[in-house]
Amino acid sequence: MATISESEPISIGVLFSETGITSVVEQTQRYAVSLAVSEINARRGAGNFELQPIFLDPASDPKRYEAEAENLISQGVRIIFGCYMSSARRAVLPVVERAGALLFYPTLYEGFEFSANCVYSGAAPNQNSLMLADYMSENFGKRHYFVGSNYVFPYESNRIMRDLLVARGCTVLEERYIPLNPKDDDIDQIIDEINKLEPDVIFSTVVGEGAIKLYQRYAQKGRTREKSPIMSLTTGEPEIAEMGVDAAEGHYTCAPYFSSLPRAVNQSFVTAYRSAFGAHAPISACTEAAYFQVHLFAEALKLGGPDAILQNLPLVEFDAPQGKVRVDRTTQHTFLTPRIGRVNPSGAFDIVYDHRTAVRPDPYKVEPEASGWSRFVGGA
Ligand code: ACM
Repeated sequence: MATISESEPISIGVLFSETGITSVVEQTQRYAVSLAVSEINARRGAGNFELQPIFLDPASDPKRYEAEAENLISQGVRIIFGCYMSSARRAVLPVVERAGALLFYPTLYEGFEFSANCVYSGAAPNQNSLMLADYMSENFGKRHYFVGSNYVFPYESNRIMRDLLVARGCTVLEERYIPLNPKDDDIDQIIDEINKLEPDVIFSTVVGEGAIKLYQRYAQKGRTREKSPIMSLTTGEPEIAEMGVDAAEGHYTCAPYFSSLPRAVNQSFVTAYRSAFGAHAPISACTEAAYFQVHLFAEALKLGGPDAILQNLPLVEFDAPQGKVRVDRTTQHTFLTPRIGRVNPSGAFDIVYDHRTAVRPDPYKVEPEASGWSRFVGGA
């Protein structure tokens, strides 16, 4: 009788915050890794390897991310799944690069980056900002207002969105930043200004607790969503569950995944996730990316072992809840399917735009046509 071979343990570090300002979403990313690891180990999905996760809580603080990444590396860990805020990724990457290790980063971000030691599975700007700019400028008026949290992602994301909107004949009335952990007064100043300027759309890059407070105060004191909806790349189901449907209804988010997607693969994922973490546990695009990237990693591990992950990753494809995903060899970013959702009265997203096919990641390019630049270099 054939014997089942011994499995070889492989440690993976997991750096998502259970506390602090972005724990509302990072907690779901942590759960997603835990679910994927259980599925993979139960089905021998990584071949003879057994994934052994080490969960640490960096408390939404980039310095803690850096220290915990050092901690993992000193224990011999060479694969880390983690980070939500770009400031956390930027703190972890030098540690990972010095050690020749690998970070799997499952969050949308500002693009214009490549590290040989990072696999990016959240959307780059050509997979979200571009589609949202088209949607905003085609379906709403031309006067836009930007508000973001005070750190790197909102500044960079706003720079890209400004270029896209100006190229579409829009005007950005103001670009404001609030602290990562804003006081009521910080938010009230923004809402007073929005009420005065009467923009057609608000583009928000406010994250975590700040987003929850912004939408809640906007519902109490701001304009109606019909007059001035909020559009975002970051406000997902976990933030909506916290802020409540009264604050969220009628606003829009662009992301490759919404938990309302009718695909059978998604329904199985949602059922498995909720039976493990609670009947109403919210799931967003960041959660889904944290889940599927562990599966992609396991497939690559099965194919060629831990020393050939990067060579083998582009060879594997995974039928993720959003659709088929795979990593592009040149950029180490992921093919993703952009969508735009509008929050309905039950707090779920109605899909108002679906790209239907996965878009090749192109982190250094945003506009599809180079001719778009002619407007800025002397063209008509
Ligand atoms: C982000 O900071 N990349 C959301």
